[in-house]
Amino acid sequence: MKNILVTGGAGFIGSNFVQLMLNKYDDVNIVVFDKLTYAGNLDNLIPVEENPRYHFYQGDICHPHEVDEVMGRYNIDTIVNFAAETHVDRSLMEPGGFIQTDVYGTYILLEAAKKYQIERYHQISTDEVYGAVLEGRSKETDKLHTRSPYSAAKAGGDLMCLAYYTSFNLPVTITRGSNNIGPYQYPEKAVPLFITNAIDNKPLPLYGDGLQMRDYQYVQDHCEGIDVVLRQGQVGEIYNLGTGVETTNIEMARLILKLLDKPDSLIQPITDRPGHDRRYALDCSKIQALGWRSAHSFEQAIAATVRWYVDNEWWWRKIKSGNHYQEYYQRQYAGREIKN
Ligand code: NAD
Ligand code: DAU
Repeated sequence: MKNILVTGGAGFIGSNFVQLMLNKYDDVNIVVFDKLTYAGNLDNLIPVEENPRYHFYQGDICHPHEVDEVMGRYNIDTIVNFAAETHVDRSLMEPGGFIQTDVYGTYILLEAAKKYQIERYHQISTDEVYGAVLEGRSKETDKLHTRSPYSAAKAGGDLMCLAYYTSFNLPVTITRGSNNIGPYQYPEKAVPLFITNAIDNKPLPLYGDGLQMRDYQYVQDHCEGIDVVLRQGQVGEIYNLGTGVETTNIEMARLILKLLDKPDSLIQPITDRPGHDRRYALDCSKIQALGWRSAHSFEQAIAATVRWYVDNEWWWRKIKSGNHYQEYYQRQYAGREIKN
């Protein structure tokens, strides 16, 4: 693992992974390959932009000639694929782009990995592929039960990876992570949206009864877990990555308000997300057997995340004041308030 192609490396988790890897190892070169969609942001990579072991290539994983060019130019031996359309609510509005990037784009990367006979292809996946888990915890061997266009597209990508392992012996690994929070998360996702709205004394739009449960993990812990799988994971295997602790959305919203010293009355119930998965919960014993565990509790992760958004208004105000964000916000939230 010397020359790593990090696709989607200008997004939230990808950029945290790039920073981690460059800081942790002095013998890896990282090439970020990113289309720079609305979610891709070169500001996320400012901390590494002067590093001689970091390179950036703007490209689309659905374009084979661009992928081929970067593979050859940088002598890539490892691909870590973060590139995806990632927001469930957008997948309900416009599913096509999810199928294109998350399934077809994965196939293009797998073909390149096969052609260049690389050492490892690692796919970043999600706990959402198991579907809602009302009781117990999802194991890596559980059947997939996808319910949103996003999770269905991610499952398609996973299955294609496993097919390339089985059919072509491609050295593939997959991690399925729970909800990440932390620096550089685009403020459409619940936690950064609630924090930034609260800072501005704006309502926190809470879907339905707010009793849905998620396992919120700190992004740096997730990135450490990916590194453990790259170094110690077995090819052909899937590893769940999460804290194993779930929190309701209303508890999450209240904790954010408490940390910011804002009133609970900012919570605004709105109509629920269609097909909203009630609960995700992961069994993480397989990755724990490799020595990995989340270092941050939910409370520590939320506190660190709130602190980062308070300290980095320059980062999110640019995004939230832009036309793309304003139009999305209007389309997504206008007229959904539930009156008491
Ligand atoms: P993000 O939306 O913040 O970033 C996605 C990145 O991919 C952006 O930089 C975007 O420009 C890039 N991209 C999109 N389409 C592309 C294409 N066709 N070609 C090249 N680049 C493209 O996403 P994230 O939250 O950082 O998620 C990263 C990965 O982790 C995704 O695969 C996602 O499914 C998975 N995941 C996310 C979470 C989470 O809580 N955010 C949890 C588990 C798994
Ligand atoms: O579980 C992993 C997944 O976590 C990743 O695969 C996805 O890429 C990532 O977006 C995230 O999906 P969720 O749908 O769980 O995250 P989101 O931040 O959109 O929502 C978290 C919870 O908060 C969920 O139960 C829906 C709720 N919510 C969300 C938004 C945007 C609200 O109540 N109000 C909101 O405005």
